[in-house]
Amino acid sequence: MILLGIESSCDETAAALVEDGRTILSSVIASQVEEHKIYGGVVPEIASRRHSEAIVGVVQEALSQAGKSLADLDGIAVTYAPGLIGALLVGVNFAKGLALSTGLPLIPVHHLRGHIASNYLSSPGLEPPFLCLVVSGGHSHIVQVEDYTKLKILGRTRDDAAGEAFDKAARAMGIPYPGGVEMDRVAEEGNPAAYKLPHPHVEGAPLDFSFSGLKTAVLNLLNNARQKGEEISVPDLCASYRRAVVSCLTENFFQAAEMTGAKTLAAAGGVSANRLLRRELERLAGERGLPLYLPDKSLCGDNAAMIASQGYYEFLAGNTAGMDLNACAQRTIE
Ligand code: KG4
Ligand code: ZN
Repeated sequence: MILLGIESSCDETAAALVEDGRTILSSVIASQVEEHKIYGGVVPEIASRRHSEAIVGVVQEALSQAGKSLADLDGIAVTYAPGLIGALLVGVNFAKGLALSTGLPLIPVHHLRGHIASNYLSSPGLEPPFLCLVVSGGHSHIVQVEDYTKLKILGRTRDDAAGEAFDKAARAMGIPYPGGVEMDRVAEEGNPAAYKLPHPHVEGAPLDFSFSGLKTAVLNLLNNARQKGEEISVPDLCASYRRAVVSCLTENFFQAAEMTGAKTLAAAGGVSANRLLRRELERLAGERGLPLYLPDKSLCGDNAAMIASQGYYEFLAGNTAGMDLNACAQRTIE
């Protein structure tokens, strides 16, 4: 079964063809990052306009790279939630138009379920159940993946998402958007013990995250240094901050693994590309003798192959939509 996946929830217009949820036939991503950089973050109105301009060409390119035509498709999977509403609407309306004109089934896919499915593409042997750390620019969840379409959130962030926490702290240090990527690179050269940062806990909810205090601590540290005319080592601060964020993520994740008796672990989302997070997850899973699955680095960020992969399992579960499908800015993964 060949599905066309379409993704437009944030600042990437993407289309991909995937066979039986596991084999990528093509994957095309048109990123708008350079355009949003000058504003220090994604400007929703610009994002929607760029999606409208790019989507036809991106879908055509995905078909052509796979050597397929519309007649070879068995369905159209599209991200319908969560994300920027104007951006989502471009993908959803395009997918609806294509489904209507071709008569193909329309399959709505939750963006974070898609991120989890990036593991199905990277590791053909992986099957639920497993425990997944889902860390993106907009969300940080510990998810129990009971089955492909049966998921339960065990822990979530109370304020900033992990990617957002990286991007905001990076911005304060003068690193351009999306700072998480660059901060990870710079941190490799720094000393993670150079600056002392807090390790926030959420009272009464041991699996939940809170990153805003950590971000404020960095802002205070930078302001104090500026006032006193002290020099800050950016690599050292990046390394210290990255270690603080990663230790919050791993501590709660492995606590959840212990509480649930998880036998298999995975991670997903843009932040799962983080070098230290990957190393730490591997080390801690290894110590416990638990198998750990990480998406290929090329599949951590937003792409449409992961949407087509999850779309396959949604289709098998009977989750298709009619022409009344709407985009949703917020919707739980459950
Ligand atoms: O999953 P994603 O591509 O988009 C959303 O669904 O939000 O995640 C984007 C986020 C951004 O905040 C970006 O800074 C962060 O993932 N990110 C990273 C790294 N690569 C991407 N954060 C830390 N280290 C990285 N290597
Ligand atoms: Zn994403």
